[in-house]
Amino acid sequence: MIAKYVYGAPFPTEAVAGEAAAASGSLPIGEVSTEDGFRFTCRLEKEDIVYGLGEANRGLNKRGFRYVSSCTDDRMHTETIQAMYAAHNFLIVAGRESVGLFFDYPARMVFDVGYTRMDTLAVTCQRADLDLYVITGESPYDIVRQFRRLIGPSYIPPKFAFGFGQSRWGYKTRADFCGVVDGYRKNRLPLDMLYLDIDYMDHYKDFTVNGEEFPDFPAFVAEMKDRGIYLVPIIDAGVKVEKGYDIYDEGVEKRYFCQRADGSDFVAAVWPGDTHFPDVLNPEARAWFGDQYRILTDAGIEAFWNDMNEPSIFYTPELTAQTRAQMEKAFRDGSYTPNMPARKKPEARGDYELFYHRSIAGTVRHDQVHNLYGFNMTRAAGEAFERIDPDRRFLMFSRSSYIGMHRYGGVWTGDNCSWWSHILLNLKMMASLNMCGFLYAGADLGGFGEDTTRDLLLRWLALGVFTPLMRNHSALGTREQECYQFEDLEDFRHVLGVRYRLLPYLYSEYMKAALGGDMLFKPLAFVYPGDKMAAQTEDQMMFGGEIMLAPVYTQNASGRYVYLPEEMLFVKFLPGGVIHQETLAPGHHYVEIALNEVPMFIRRGRCVPLAEPAETVGAVDASRLTTLGYEGASYVLYEDDGVHKNYTALEDCRTLKHPVR
Ligand code: NOJ
Repeated sequence: MIAKYVYGAPFPTEAVAGEAAAASGSLPIGEVSTEDGFRFTCRLEKEDIVYGLGEANRGLNKRGFRYVSSCTDDRMHTETIQAMYAAHNFLIVAGRESVGLFFDYPARMVFDVGYTRMDTLAVTCQRADLDLYVITGESPYDIVRQFRRLIGPSYIPPKFAFGFGQSRWGYKTRADFCGVVDGYRKNRLPLDMLYLDIDYMDHYKDFTVNGEEFPDFPAFVAEMKDRGIYLVPIIDAGVKVEKGYDIYDEGVEKRYFCQRADGSDFVAAVWPGDTHFPDVLNPEARAWFGDQYRILTDAGIEAFWNDMNEPSIFYTPELTAQTRAQMEKAFRDGSYTPNMPARKKPEARGDYELFYHRSIAGTVRHDQVHNLYGFNMTRAAGEAFERIDPDRRFLMFSRSSYIGMHRYGGVWTGDNCSWWSHILLNLKMMASLNMCGFLYAGADLGGFGEDTTRDLLLRWLALGVFTPLMRNHSALGTREQECYQFEDLEDFRHVLGVRYRLLPYLYSEYMKAALGGDMLFKPLAFVYPGDKMAAQTEDQMMFGGEIMLAPVYTQNASGRYVYLPEEMLFVKFLPGGVIHQETLAPGHHYVEIALNEVPMFIRRGRCVPLAEPAETVGAVDASRLTTLGYEGASYVLYEDDGVHKNYTALEDCRTLKHPVR
């Protein structure tokens, strides 16, 4: 059951798609005070687990830390970081009874989950103007499913988006891009997508292309498609200030950019230098910005990633002259880094108090709706795609997000590092993101910041085999980490190949989850309620209806410990097409997993379909599937054309049976 409690005059965030009955009276859990801002508190029993918060730091169980919901461009995801790129204000207190809480509030909010006092959850924000949805249900899993119905269906990408993609900040020339494709194709390493980071543009101007490198961009896009590659250009939030740049000129003329209190266009420096932010909270400006994507779709592009949309601000003209001079100099001489000591975050500097939106609820200062910016930038694109080609699916994912954006696109988890701990963080975030509706998600495999190592990349790819977004991405100046940069390519060919062998299964499970409002990655406790050990397990995750994942995330390990809540079939994909299968009894095991092996566990009585290896999604042959798993088990395979929106009904899906020997 969902009850909606309304406090003050909430901003219409449009996070929720359905309607919930407004409730009155006291809450079924905790207490609210609106005397000095908003404060929700509830007692946490010793054994309670707190799930949720989507893209957030630390554990699957969020207890014991303070999380700040304020979309922030902070690239150093150490253990102590409180605010990340997204704001997903949904959590579940799971104990003897379970309750879900969604705080639909678009500004900064603090989730003190047993940090100040270990036995208290406190959720606070400055203004007592919000909707609080309280969900009661049979179990945390049931609460998630109710919540997902409330917020509406998850975004569905085209099928090619389930292939492997290569990215790097620093590819600039036509030769750079072609070289990457050659590196993959010549070495028979699978690849479906090549990402264009900011350097494909003309001076970082959105919706432009560097004409010297790409004199005929549509021809380049077509040439790549002929090689089985979809190009995925980045779009940044800030539009460069430059007279004569048509998007800038039109935005200024029509007052589509965010403005200061005095009516002047707000200036924020990002990659192009000074920029203006499109006012994506204003429906007219949002439609206008969305329509710009047409420039690239007309050139044959079907895939995008939206970046810097917290929005990130390097500096403003309002900064003190000294700080601004330091930053401008660093920016000019190339020594600028987002972590410069002189740099305080835009929120702390007060930048977000300097500009306004013309929203459906009237003029509103940015800081009061800050967490909605990335959501609405991505919504601009999603709504435009509906106009551009209503039957076609486009690939779209964003860095910043708020619940509600899951209807328009996926997310990547931003700038992680080539750290072993970030493999585990990736795994845990997947389940938490799924709770909030974000199914199409993934991390920068191999790590974005810092130098990767061959073993880190291989281990991370073995997890990435299962994440819907499977992309290798790295930062300017770090060690090159395309798969072909390392020795013994056979190992990479094999690990990537497993992704394509499993593709019919992964896609089928994704579609079932998206169409059925379900999760793809689930905590063990959601599938094995009542199992105390499962409730404690954070480094294994259930995937779809059939398998359990237990990736290796420590260096120099020859395997790992794993907990099996029931008997399972331990499967390892070995190079050369060999598949190791071993039935393991419930309980604890140490399993050997070599660096070039991809492990997974099939649940008792289940099976999964398996294709032959392929180098692109289009080359996966779904007419020749075999199965892997328990004798006599059957699997319902979801299939469609992967391009259009005429989804298949579950009753029309074919059933595969694993033979009895
Ligand atoms: C920040 C993004 O998080 C990163 O992925 C990208 O490479 C850089 N911006 C440059 O565009």
